[in-house]
Order: sequence, then structure tokens, then C-alpha cells
Amino acid sequence: MSEIDSLKAQLETLQSEALAAFSAAIDLVSLQQMRVNYLGKKGALTEVLKGVGKLPPQERPVIGQYVNQSKSVLSAALDIAEAGLAVAAKAERVEAERIDVTLPGRVGATGALHPVQRGLDEMTAIFSQMGFAVAEGPEIENEFHNFDALNIPPEHPARAMHDTFFVEQMGDEPMLLRTHTSPVQIRAMKRFLAESGEPPLAVVAPGRVYRCDYDVTHSPMFHQVEVFKVDRDVSMAHLKGVLKHFLSTYFEKEVSIRLRPHYFPFTEPSAEVDIGCVFCAGKGCRICKNSGWIEVLGSGMIHPNVLKSVGIDSDEFSGFAFGLGVERLVMLKQGIPDLRMFFENDVRFLRRMGS
Ligand code: DAH
Repeated sequence: MSEIDSLKAQLETLQSEALAAFSAAIDLVSLQQMRVNYLGKKGALTEVLKGVGKLPPQERPVIGQYVNQSKSVLSAALDIAEAGLAVAAKAERVEAERIDVTLPGRVGATGALHPVQRGLDEMTAIFSQMGFAVAEGPEIENEFHNFDALNIPPEHPARAMHDTFFVEQMGDEPMLLRTHTSPVQIRAMKRFLAESGEPPLAVVAPGRVYRCDYDVTHSPMFHQVEVFKVDRDVSMAHLKGVLKHFLSTYFEKEVSIRLRPHYFPFTEPSAEVDIGCVFCAGKGCRICKNSGWIEVLGSGMIHPNVLKSVGIDSDEFSGFAFGLGVERLVMLKQGIPDLRMFFENDVRFLRRMGS
């Protein structure tokens, strides 16, 4: 075989070997290496060109042309292989980063308000929208605010009925956990009179209260909302109007109410308030014990002695007051059968009821 034919054969072998290698390359890095190996300054093609020196001068351009042709074939093949691998790499990335947009989202666990707190906030907001100012008082009270000023003198049987928790004395003064939010009536009236001299005043006082009691409808700690208004010519009609508006707003439906004569030391006359059963609409069911009515709170016209205890002239001013149990109303609204569920802290219950 002549020198030139042998060089040509060498070139052909090199070229087909290179093309096979390019198409088998698995990544861009190895293709880059192949480019250097075949087409680089010290690459295989340059090596072939070195043999050209052995050829007679008139044959040299011929083989030079072959080499150049091979160069462009290989260079084009490398470009194509590179582009192919780039596309494959991209497809691989897309596949690897693929997300399933039909999967349900991951919702972070958020906290929720306790159903009692939510009820307390809702109730306070309703009164506050009606113009009642929000007031608070201490949970550790003295006997004066919890009893005496509310017309419950020391030997009064109502003191025993309150199942009071007494705590350590302050000097000579017995202290207790307030048994109701009514003492806030006294504190708020005193504060208000010191600030502005005389009624009108309208107050809503939400808060925690304590009684030594524990069963399906009683817990030693529970919540009340106390509401009262003092002005000239306040009557039971105002009381009834406020109650009706409040109860219908809270239960999100028109509820009927009924005032039943009752006794509370701090009101005269006093009434217990019933609502038409929210479960059977008055037809009679297990919850209302077939009466069609459910008792929800205590109310009345503030006793003259209570007004006197804070220096309000009971000839000139009158007031209504009522106090309600928050847990009881939340139970009625949400259909919760046992009051103790509020305080057992079972997260399944709290998640379902909280918000
Ligand atoms: N303080 C009473 C209680 O706990 C509830 C109550 C009844 C409050 C009548 C009032 C009222 O303001 O007028 O049981």
C-alpha cells in the first residue's frame, strides 16, 4: 500500500472510531475530553498530519485536504453529540425536579384560640358594639367586693351557696377567689364615678371565676360575663332589649327569651332568663328537658343597696345587671355535652372546636 493510501486508511479508521466514541459518550465532560483527544493540538488528527512529511510534496495537499475534511466532520459530530447530551441532561433535570402539582398542599400546624376564649371574645365584642365599656377586676377578691357591697351580708345564706375558695389572708382581711364577676360592678362603678362624677355608665366585664364544684355542668374554674348599665330611668325593658339583641346575635338566629322571677341579693326585682330551646325550637327535647326553654343567665334591676355602697343616689339613678356563664353558652351554641371537655385539653376536641 502506498504511503498516501495508508495515511487515508489510518484517517478513516480514526474517524469511524471517533464517531462511535462520540455517540457513546455519556456526559458533556467526556465529550470535551474527546474533542481534545481528537482535534486538539496534540490530538490524533495532528498526529496523522505529522506523517505527511514522508509524502512526496505533490501528494501533501491531498492528504492535508483529507485531514481538514475529517476535522470538520468530527467537529460537527462533536457539536451534535454535545447538543444531544445537553438536551438529555436538561430532560434528566426536569425529571429529577418534577413536582406533583396534584398533591395536597402541606399546611403548617397553626395554633387556635380555645373555644371558651373564642366565646368570651365574641360575647365581649357584641356588648362592646352596643356601647358597653370593657372592664376587668382581680380574681383574688376581698369579701367586701365579692359579697358585702353586693348586698350579701356576712350571715346571708347566699354566701354559703357560693362554695367559695378562701385563700391566704391579707393581714386581717380574708381573701377569696371571686365566685362571680359581679364584684366588677362595684369596682367599675367606683372607678367610673371617680373619673367622671356620675352615671350614665355601661360596662361589660368578662373574666374567670371560681367555685368548689365539679361535674358535667360545673368546673371549679369557669368564665362569666357581667353586664350592667346605670342611668336615669333605666328599666327592665332596657334589660330585656339588650338581652334579646345579645342572645340573637350570639346564636346567629332570632331567639325568644323569657324572664322568670327569681332571687338574687344584688338585684330587685330579679329574674332568671330562659331562651327558647336552640335545639328543638321550643318543641321539647332532651336538652331542654321537654320544657322548650333553657335557663341561660341571672339578671335584674340593681338593688338600691348596691348603688348606695358606691355612693350613687338610688332615687335618681337605676340600673340593670346580668351575669352569664360563658361555658354554658358555648356548650349550647356548639352542642358540647360535657363542660369538662373544655378543660381536659384533648387536642382532637380543641382542633375541632378552636379557631
Ligand atoms: N352573679 C350571679 C352568679 O354568679 C349572676 C348574676 C345574677 C349576675 C344576676 C347579675 C345579676 O349581675 O343581676 O351567679
